[in-house]
Amino acid sequence: MASLRETILSCQACPLYRERNLAVFGEGPENAPLMVIGEGPGAKEDELGRPFVGRAGKLLDQMMEQAGLSREKNAFIANIVKCRPPKNRVPKKQEVQTCFPYLEEQIELVNPKLILLLGATALKSYRGTPLRDKISDIRGSWEKENNRLVMATFHPAAVFRNPRYKPFIEEDLQAIADKLKETAAG
Ligand code: URA
Repeated sequence: MASLRETILSCQACPLYRERNLAVFGEGPENAPLMVIGEGPGAKEDELGRPFVGRAGKLLDQMMEQAGLSREKNAFIANIVKCRPPKNRVPKKQEVQTCFPYLEEQIELVNPKLILLLGATALKSYRGTPLRDKISDIRGSWEKENNRLVMATFHPAAVFRNPRYKPFIEEDLQAIADKLKETAAG
């Protein structure tokens, strides 16, 4: 994990490195049962080198805590791309493809039982295919993948555009927490 961190922090494999301040590796327990995957760092994350520490991150922390989840206790927080796309634009296909092996390595190292994808970009990038389904249609449902379960939900930043998304994210986080309890017991 330490050597992967070093590699990511000094990565120059795609043009995003030119405008970044800090690459954002991700954080959480190295053996977390849950990995939460966002899109990419925003301004605050780029400044501090930590994932989800801006406005959306505060909301995510608060909703996770409500469900009994946290980056200190049981969730590793990562992103599809490790460097901030200028003006927070959506990462380009080439950038996602270049960065994706890092995420794959993180998943292999952490080996989470559950993966939660935040938002359409994370979902699409993770699948590596254009999205046929709307996130509103598939959110909250489990997909089995090797020895893990994968779920997608709305990105917490969507709540600032439309507060009606919030209860859905809360419901999905609760389902994640319940599933974790179930798998720990079983
Ligand atoms: N949004 C993301 O998708 N990731 C972050 O790390 C912060 C905001």
